[in-house]
Amino acid sequence: MDIIIRDTYEEMSRYAAGLIASMVRQKPDCVLGLATGSTPIGAYRELERMHREEGLDFSQVKTFNLDEYLGVGIDLNKPYKMDQSYARFMYEELFKHINVKKENIHIPDGLAKNPEEFCKEYEEEIRKAGGIDLQLLGIGGDGHWAFNEPGSSLASRTRVEILTKQTLDDNYESFYKKAGISREQMPHFAITMGIGTILEARNILMLANGRKKAAVVAKALEGPVTSQVTASAIQLFRGGVTVVLDREAASELKNTEHYLHREKLKSTFFPGN
Ligand code: GLP
Repeated sequence: MDIIIRDTYEEMSRYAAGLIASMVRQKPDCVLGLATGSTPIGAYRELERMHREEGLDFSQVKTFNLDEYLGVGIDLNKPYKMDQSYARFMYEELFKHINVKKENIHIPDGLAKNPEEFCKEYEEEIRKAGGIDLQLLGIGGDGHWAFNEPGSSLASRTRVEILTKQTLDDNYESFYKKAGISREQMPHFAITMGIGTILEARNILMLANGRKKAAVVAKALEGPVTSQVTASAIQLFRGGVTVVLDREAASELKNTEHYLHREKLKSTFFPGN
């Protein structure tokens, strides 16, 4: 596992965007797994800049988002400002700024008539696309990946999940409150890729920033693998794993010295890295 520590959120975001951009350059028709939340916004801004200034081309890229609240969703042809779906978030924060094709975008449908059936189809769509080349991930305050709340099986597949009180509190503050939606009105259910689904990606890129993520980042990376912190499944991943943290999010890690040392030696041994 490569753990990369950068001083600031901006540096962390640039590093992460650089990794995503190299995947797109190496494999122009790659499949990207994308995440929402405040964490990846800086990386999305940088990808937008690379598209605008350097011609980074997303025209053949396929995307699959991790999750969506149940009961909200949008038509990407007519995004509605007040809608608090992750689909709208992705449109506003990334898709409308780059040249990804609408037919190549996949986001769980929060308005699906039969969500359980939809979840099976979503898994099938990922398979048909050839699997995910690079999955971007944040980490929730309770240690979740996507919406795999504590207690989710580490072999779980795409499904409907019930959000924890902590997730509702965290996401209400960062997402729904601003839109003037009450805590009671915000969705309590979500469609989420499972941990088993995520672990099938070929590469994982996990990001975390800020002091408030420090304890949970340490648990996920250095603690026991447990369904109580579903991001700890990162330790079971068999493909390429890169974790990019800012200094604050890394502040409770025990082996920081080794991670810094490893990064330095890795770049001398594998100069391309
Ligand atoms: C939500 C998303 C997660 C995300 C988490 C952290 O719960 N479902 O995929 O990692 O928020 O959000 P933030 O980046 O805003 O801390």
